[in-house]
Amino acid sequence: MAIARVSTLPETPVEAGLGGTSSYLYASKVSVAYAGRDADIVTAIDRIDLSIDRGEFVCLLGPSGCGKTTFLNVVAGFLPVSSGVLTLKGKAIDRPGPDRAMVFQQPGLLPWRDVLHNVTFGLEMSGRMRRREAIVRAGELLELVGLAEFARSFPHQLSGGMQQRVNLARALAVRPELLLLDEPFASVDAQTRESLQAELLAICKAPEVTALFVTHDIGEAVFLADRICILTSRPGRIVREVRVRLPKPRDEVRLKPEFLAYVQEVSGVLRSAAATAGKSENREEKRHGDDRP
Ligand SMILES: Nc1ncnc2c1ncn2[C@@H]1O[C@H](COP(=O)(O)OP(=O)(O)OP(=O)(O)O)[C@@H](O)[C@H]1O
Ligand SMILES: [Mg+2]
Repeated sequence: MAIARVSTLPETPVEAGLGGTSSYLYASKVSVAYAGRDADIVTAIDRIDLSIDRGEFVCLLGPSGCGKTTFLNVVAGFLPVSSGVLTLKGKAIDRPGPDRAMVFQQPGLLPWRDVLHNVTFGLEMSGRMRRREAIVRAGELLELVGLAEFARSFPHQLSGGMQQRVNLARALAVRPELLLLDEPFASVDAQTRESLQAELLAICKAPEVTALFVTHDIGEAVFLADRICILTSRPGRIVREVRVRLPKPRDEVRLKPEFLAYVQEVSGVLRSAAATAGKSENREEKRHGDDRP
């Protein structure tokens, strides 16, 4: 469906009169509206303000349909913003780039390629590395995600959790600075999810890796995040940010009272955000008509 350009705003913080920004990722009043049925407009996200520093791990939590995937898509450069300012390292995001990689919920591996060549795929496409180097790099990443011995297996020979590890390795192959992860562990069992979370934290330890991670799982957000941004229901707006001050690595943290206190705090905010949201959704539908399928 088409994106509705609601208004044209200046492209950079400087042009916007915001005096520039030192933030790595900077969103100011970012809205995205889709053109719905019968010329209706569906506002998915509404004036999102968010600044992320390099090396931060930020989780987005919010009710279903509040625009989390939409926000990741605009940061990835897959979708344009309808209004607002969105910059990466001070430059307006207007297209995808090798500095960003997206990890989706479904691994989406190429069934005719073995694990190793699934991981080299992005490198081959980008043409940034010779074949031999790409294979060495892919081998290192498979080691990192614990799949070195499955390099020659095909996707159908792997479990869901193993496929998701390959997906992660594939995203990391291009050495992205910014990892965008859309509920990447939602479809794996609880035990695998916990080990994938710990692996991801270890991978993101490198100070140059910044992560924006979407989840519905409060425990997952508290385990991973330096900061959790909680959105209202559609149109999504950030209602609250919770800074998680638990030391990393967090392997042993899940049963500690401080961890549980964060879980409780975030679930309280989420509940009230969902309540606020219902009202804003009703307002929206009055303005634009019913956009539900
Ligand atoms: N291509 C599209 N065309 C029209 N409306 C869309 C499109 N994509 C998303 N939407 C609408 O935008 C809103 C936000 O969708 P989005 O997928 O970003 O939500 P989400 O927070 O990721 O939801 P979930 O948690 O269920 O994955 C929803 O109301 C959805 O129906
Ligand atoms: Mg989504």
